[in-house]
Amino acid sequence: MEIGQLVNGMIARSLPALPRGLVRRVAGRYIAGDSAELALALARGLKQAGFESTVHILGEDVTNAEEAARAAESYLDLMESMQAAGVSRNVSVKPSQLGIRFDEGRAFELLREVLASARQRDFFVRLDMEDSSLTDVTLDFHRRAREIWPRVGTVLQARLLRTPDDARALAGTGASIRLCKGIYAESRSNALQGKQEIREAFMEVLRLLLEGGAFVGLATHDLDLIGRIGAEVLEPGDFAGRVEFQALLGVPIRSTLESLRDEGYPVRLYVPFGHDWYAYALRRVRESPQIAGSITRSLFRRDRLDASSLGERGS
Ligand code: FDA
Repeated sequence: MEIGQLVNGMIARSLPALPRGLVRRVAGRYIAGDSAELALALARGLKQAGFESTVHILGEDVTNAEEAARAAESYLDLMESMQAAGVSRNVSVKPSQLGIRFDEGRAFELLREVLASARQRDFFVRLDMEDSSLTDVTLDFHRRAREIWPRVGTVLQARLLRTPDDARALAGTGASIRLCKGIYAESRSNALQGKQEIREAFMEVLRLLLEGGAFVGLATHDLDLIGRIGAEVLEPGDFAGRVEFQALLGVPIRSTLESLRDEGYPVRLYVPFGHDWYAYALRRVRESPQIAGSITRSLFRRDRLDASSLGERGS
């Protein structure tokens, strides 16, 4: 194991022992705030700066039916407020927020309620992809959801060995796919482990999706990969209306995102908000210890789009 991996692992393991205030400070860079109002203000600021957004309510892996129902209800309220605020009509939902782990039938009924509101208000709904125990059921929800309201998409994770097959199956259906590396730790039996092989898989899946006619959200902060996508696959104007770049709020690649925007690519920021920031911060780092190092380094960098930097610009 490299020394960097060791240090990052130590940071990840010690995070739960750190004072909440410090964890809040770390998490705060990646989260719009506790309330929908703060997320909407941020989404408005992003729009003024030429960026789209997708808003996510924190709180995955609910453990009972009441929490799942509350999560669905919160999305209904959120969409109403987003419509009134005139921001990008786009939300990201984690299936485990709707209780998919313990009651698939009820979770789909809750998704149906979200879709009814999305249809009424013309929203796009993205089903985030969680660990591989939920891949099949999430793809199944995505397929069934599109029969109810076509403006629904999901996510494919380049690291999973199954993903090229999933991409082939989805590409020809005109699906909207966010393509990412995949944040969840997966075993060698079902996932690639090496950084470079995951990058190659990302490029392979991207080509499969584009050749098949899918819409692709390119969700990566990997500058090598972004460069390769630009050089090998896309020219500005190419695949017009069929690709966009996506990034997580607060990751320090602001200048890259601004360049992509200036070149004419749509760029969308993932804007999470809610009270469940503590669990979110801990889970993110536990799921992918190398992000602990990224987080630590990024505390000392200013090249990010987040609530404070947008505020500094007065937008
Ligand atoms: P990589 O991990 O190599 O990161 C590239 C560089 O970006 C790092 O060197 C670091 O500097 C910086 N960086 C990355 N993450 C950072 C962070 N959190 N804080 C600070 N710096 C960071 N995954 C998943 O399994 N299911 C999903 O639904 C989604 N959804 C999603 C939406 C969007 C919009 C994005 C951008 C990403 C996701 N992901 C995801 C996460 C994704 O799978 C992946 O884990 C992360 O994006 C990190 O991988 P990169 O491709 O960015 O490369």
